[in-house]
Parts: sequence; C-alpha cells; structure tokens
Amino acid sequence: MAKYRIAWLPGDGVGKEVMEAARIVLDGLKLNAEYIHGDIGWEFWCKEGDPLPKRTTDMMKTTQCALFGAITSKPQKEAKEELIGELKTKNLTYFSPIVRLRQEFDLYCNERPNIAIPGNPLNLKENINITVFRENTEGSYAGVEFGPVTDDLKKAMVKDAPKMKMFMDTPADDIAISTRIITRKGAERIIRSAFEHADKFKRKSVTLVEKPNVLRKTGGLMTEVFEKVAKEYPHIDSWFDNVDAMAMWLVKSPEKYEVLVCENLFGDIISDLAGQLVGGLGFAHSGNIGKEYAVFEPVHGSAPKYEGMYKVNPMATFLAAKMMCTYLGEHEIAAKIQKGVEITVKEGKVVTYDLGGKAKTLEVAHEVVKNAMK
Ligand code: NAI
Ligand code: MG
Repeated sequence: MAKYRIAWLPGDGVGKEVMEAARIVLDGLKLNAEYIHGDIGWEFWCKEGDPLPKRTTDMMKTTQCALFGAITSKPQKEAKEELIGELKTKNLTYFSPIVRLRQEFDLYCNERPNIAIPGNPLNLKENINITVFRENTEGSYAGVEFGPVTDDLKKAMVKDAPKMKMFMDTPADDIAISTRIITRKGAERIIRSAFEHADKFKRKSVTLVEKPNVLRKTGGLMTEVFEKVAKEYPHIDSWFDNVDAMAMWLVKSPEKYEVLVCENLFGDIISDLAGQLVGGLGFAHSGNIGKEYAVFEPVHGSAPKYEGMYKVNPMATFLAAKMMCTYLGEHEIAAKIQKGVEITVKEGKVVTYDLGGKAKTLEVAHEVVKNAMK
C-alpha cells in the first residue's frame, strides 16, 4: 500500500495539462503515493449542475491532501445558458468550487511563497523571498452582502454606525453593501500561522498588511491580535504597514520583506503583486491549509486560449507539488523538485514561451526530473 493517498483534481483546460506534467515529476522522484482522481470544474457544472460533486468531497475526506490544477468559471448568465437541457429549468446558481473547498474543509490559511529563482529572466530582482499568509475564509469574501438595502436594514445599522445616516435617503435599489468581517479567532489563527512559519523557517520578520487608520474596527482588531501574538515571538521583528503603501514598497524594496500576513482581500491583491515580482503566473503557487486538510494549487486559471496546446508553464504546479511534499514531511523530494526547477530555469534550454523558450509543458516535466537527479 502506498504511504500517502492524494486527491488528484486536474479541473479544466490547461489545469489538466499542468497536472499531467506534475505527475511525471512526482512519479519521477518516486513519491510513495496513490492518486485518486476527483471530478471538479465547468464540465460538471454543465452536465450535473454542480462544479464540485459530493462524490469528490467525499473522496477527498479519505485522503491526506489534494493537488488541484485549475478550473473555468463564467458569469452567472453564461453559466445558466451552458447547462444541459433538463437542468436549465432548475434555477441552479453557479458557485466557485475553490471557494467552497476552502469553506467546506475550513482551509483558513492561504500560504503563497514568492521566491526568486536565480537567473529567472522574469524576476524583478534576484533577492526576493516573501511568503504571504492570506486569511482564506473571512473578510470581504465571507459572502455577507446586501443589495437592495431596505429601510429596516439601514435603521438597524444607524443605531451602531451613526455615519450610516448619510445614506438614509438613498433609494434601496441604488445602494449595495459588502461587509468585511474579521473575527478574533480568524485573525489569531492566520497571524499565528505566519509567526509559526517564520519561527520554523528562521525568517527574520513578519509584517501585518492592514489599513487600521481608516478601517478602524476590523483593522483595529487585526492590529490588536497581531501585537499580542508578536509578543510571543520576541526574536522575530514585527511591524505593520498600510496596504496602499505596501503596494509601493513591494515594487521598490521587496528584499526588505520576509513574511506578510493579511486579511482575505488585501492578501488576494498583495499576493498577486508579490507573485509578479518573481515570474508571474507561470510560477505563482499556493497552499490552502487548514488544521485537518490542505489543497495545493498553481494560482493561474484554465487559460482557455492555450487549452490543448501543451504550451503553458508547469513550474507553478511543480512548486505547488513541492509545497505538498513539505506538508507531508517529504523534505528530500521537496528539495529535489526545487533543485530541478532551479537548474531548468537557470539553464533556460527547456522552458516554455513565457520564459522565451519553445518547450512543451511535458518536456519541461522530464527536464525537471532529469535535473532534480543531478
Ligand atoms: P488565466 O490564469 O487562466 O490565464 C491568463 C493568462 O495568463 C493566459 O492567457 C496566459 O497568457 C497566462 N498564463 C496563465 N497561466 C500560465 C502558465 N502556467 N504559463 C504561462 N502563462 C500562463 O486567467 P483568465 O484568462 O483570467 O481566466 C481563464 C479561466 O480561468 C476563467 O474561467 C477564470 O474564471 C478561471 N480562473 C481559475 C482560477 C483557478 O482555478 N484557481 C484562477 C484564475 C482564473
Ligand atoms: Mg487572485
């Protein structure tokens, strides 16, 4: 029997291609695992009215973690039009299967490493090594929104937020409200994840990315919890920066930052910015990690224009697979993946179009295995 059971979720479009490449690498480096295929994505929305069928989440519950490719999603109107005949009349609503996975498995921690691979022609600078910890379940993405905004709701809000008076005369249909919900528990567990990571991997600093001078309540709570947890790690430097300033600092002096921690929306934006400093979508990868389960993935989507061409860069998925190996405690295989990726990028002989090469997705996989063994 294999040592690990891993849920294998290729998804749509190039998701399938980069996952095929990842299997070449994991098999080449002999990870002792069995991989169980799970249906996820657009095809299952169209055919079954559910992009994440229950059989997939049931199967995942029998595994240690999952590797996920990418899915296609489309706006609600198109989603309804593409349903097969008998499902069209069922009043189904499309939802993002990734968001649902994060909620269903309580994958509260989104960890995004952004490490410059030496010699990557796409690096902004060479000495960048920033890991972003993004809260994955709360904030503005908790899905608590209002529109139209009824008079009853406005009156209830005015009681505790007098500034709401400003909007009392705005017609219900002309106003919408999204919330940013931060809980002490949510703040504490993501901030703790960031400090624990910094401690474990001997990183020198943790920076909170917030906006507490304007978002006083939620930003205030994040800052308060951050200061409390930071006291438990006196050997790690800690400070907070405003999110807008951070966008500039990351471009100007990215080498000053090591570990960043953010609520959901700020983390989404800041992690994409950080990803672009070290190669962009061909390299950006993440882990969605909870107490019991984790899903690893490249950040990019299904790239429909390249579907079937085996053209896109699989490095992001290899690095996601590396993260998965680290999660499983397979540090030697993780280090080999990193080495294989580094040599391949540095040599630049067998690389995809985004790195100026002509190699196909699966050729890169074989090259990475070869270099990992050197
Ligand atoms: P995308 O990430 O699929 O592709 C955007 C562009 O980035 C591509 O056309 C290509 O030029 C480049 N690119 C992406 N991955 C690459 C790679 N591995 N190597 C080299 N170049 C790469 O984003 P887009 O076009 O906005 O979305 C396409 C579909 O993917 C949509 O249906 C969207 O909803 C979905 N999506 C899914 C995500 C996921 O599964 N996590 C994330 C982002 C988008
Ligand atoms: Mg994003």
